[in-house]
Amino acid sequence: MSNVVLDAQNISKSFTDGKTTVDVIRNLSLQVKTGEFISIVGSSGSGKSTLLHVLGGLDRPTTGQVFVQGRRFDNLGEAERGYIRNEHLGFVYQFHHLLPEFSALENVAMPLMLRKGTNFKEVNQQAEYLLERVGLSHRLTHKPGELSGGERQRVALARALVTKPKLMMADEPTGNLDRKTAVKIFELLSELRQEFNMAMLIVTHDEQLAKSADAVLHMQDGVWVDH
Ligand SMILES: Nc1ncnc2c1ncn2[C@@H]1O[C@H](COP(=O)(O)OP(=O)(O)O)[C@@H](O)[C@H]1O
Ligand SMILES: [Mg+2]
Repeated sequence: MSNVVLDAQNISKSFTDGKTTVDVIRNLSLQVKTGEFISIVGSSGSGKSTLLHVLGGLDRPTTGQVFVQGRRFDNLGEAERGYIRNEHLGFVYQFHHLLPEFSALENVAMPLMLRKGTNFKEVNQQAEYLLERVGLSHRLTHKPGELSGGERQRVALARALVTKPKLMMADEPTGNLDRKTAVKIFELLSELRQEFNMAMLIVTHDEQLAKSADAVLHMQDGVWVDH
């Protein structure tokens, strides 16, 4: 079995607005191996979020191919991409994207609830375990609006990990947190990565935090650049 979790080949992404076309990602390739931690650094507007959305199947590339666990992914329909995402990938956004009307526990349980043949008791146990792992056992019934920024991001992490993904992608997961909280979240990520033998692809502005990765990739105007 191949040890490549994510293989993106010659990815381009352009947005067309009337007569103008903007080439945001230009012929990028990237491989993430099992358990590997890669960080992506680049200034605002360089195309990091666009790339992550394409790699995570939230959007389609204009050209190029994305493979997840050896299976081509980018050319599938919305529902099938959703299924593969749920099965193999975890995603953490810059702004948590938690559902405001649901509790922390319900938010974390959601990805498992969406699966067929769900055993509710097991799902709740698994969600509770993840919330305990991120230090939030005492906040199970709180809604996102009743949590601090750092706590919300911990819930978002727990939700991304509850399915035990092979790869977690995070788009500036600590971008809105103070430095101390950001360092703690990174430490937690590194522990969970080992526990789940999970690969991580993280976009960050923070060169210092990025350095803890196995490899740091620098992005500028939609291409990799040497640093
Ligand atoms: N849906 C879209 N339509 C048109 N342009 C977009 C769209 N999404 C992103 N862009 C443009 O792509 C560029 C890169 O955006 P983004 O990927 O969000 O960068 P980053 O995450 O590195 O800050 C920006 O110039 C942005 O305006
Ligand atoms: Mg971005």
